[in-house]
Amino acid sequence: MLAAGEPTPLIDFPVAAPGIRLLVKDESAQPTGSLRHRHARALFRQAILDGLVTEGTTVVEATGGNAAVAQAWFARRLGLPYIVVMPGRRSEARARAVEALGGECRFVTPPLAIYDAARAIEGHFLDQFGRAARHDLAEELFAQVQPDWVVTGAGTGATSATLGASRPPQSPPQSPSQSPSRSTPQSPSQPPQPTTRPTTQPPQPTTRPTTRPIQPMTRLTSPPPGIPTHGVSCRVAVADPENSAYFPGWTLDVPDYATGMPSRIEGIGRPRMEPGFRPDLVDLVIPVPDAASVAAARHLREVTGRPVGGSSGTALWAALELVERMRARGESGLVVSLLGDAAERHLATIHHDEWAAERGLDAERYTGELRRRTGV
Ligand SMILES: Cc1ncc(COP(=O)(O)O)c(C=O)c1O
Repeated sequence: MLAAGEPTPLIDFPVAAPGIRLLVKDESAQPTGSLRHRHARALFRQAILDGLVTEGTTVVEATGGNAAVAQAWFARRLGLPYIVVMPGRRSEARARAVEALGGECRFVTPPLAIYDAARAIEGHFLDQFGRAARHDLAEELFAQVQPDWVVTGAGTGATSATLGASRPPQSPPQSPSQSPSRSTPQSPSQPPQPTTRPTTQPPQPTTRPTTRPIQPMTRLTSPPPGIPTHGVSCRVAVADPENSAYFPGWTLDVPDYATGMPSRIEGIGRPRMEPGFRPDLVDLVIPVPDAASVAAARHLREVTGRPVGGSSGTALWAALELVERMRARGESGLVVSLLGDAAERHLATIHHDEWAAERGLDAERYTGELRRRTGV
């Protein structure tokens, strides 16, 4: 019942950068339509292993998003009652999917009261932030491909932590003539592109220095053959929306950094660094303007046909930033970006001009850059 499901597909995404390949891992293919399916499986499994959930236990969560649908799905299959506390006034659109799976939705104001309300319910509070459990995405992805970079968003922090902890170790050094790019098949007309990073650059430390000037784009190079950087074969980048604490917290190395402001991109970006986020397992955090997330989500929909959520746009924008830096340095390689979810309801928000205009989000500003970078 709680075994890993079928691997989700990888979609080739166009980039105007010879020798660089971008793949989008499509988590909308999960049975409940989002990456949250993996979190729900991991949370249920851990709770059962710890003896916190047994036959008949009412399972409780506080969330307004995809997590509730995924958890209701597992609760139904396990024959357990499920209650989710959602922020705000009752919304039929949000309640419908959970109730269709036999779950109960309770709406609470003010929004931050959802956590206390959930704790007050008799049963087991899954607590996706407090107990963020590593899930199975990394294991599955690294069995499919060997990327140079994986780009994800961060909400609970579980996905970046699982990617950072599970990446394979770096293979023994090879001479440049053997294979400067491990993962990108070169077309016959394209000679392999050697990395251009100067070999005089000293090896980079395996952990982040505690004081570091803010130079977000200085580490965007493939490790030159023979020079170990982090000792791992793949690097993890977190794409972070406006108002989120992860970019400033990671950059300044302040583990309890808080902005106190909510993210406008559903599912990712938090007002404070959450306990499940592991800064030491993340190689780069890329700040993404919300309007760029909207533009990239629309572009992703145009190319794949899927009505993706804003977080998939955030990750795609950051992935294209990485590709651009690699291209400028003459590097080749493979970048994987996460497509977190797709749902009809996003057509009324991220993909809707009025919704964006009401929030002052001018997606058009970023469309030209997207077209230039993808050639679409
Ligand atoms: C693109 C993307 N990345 C990451 C996440 C979640 O990250 P975390 O595991 O930190 O909650 C989501 C949403 O669930 C997402 O849509």
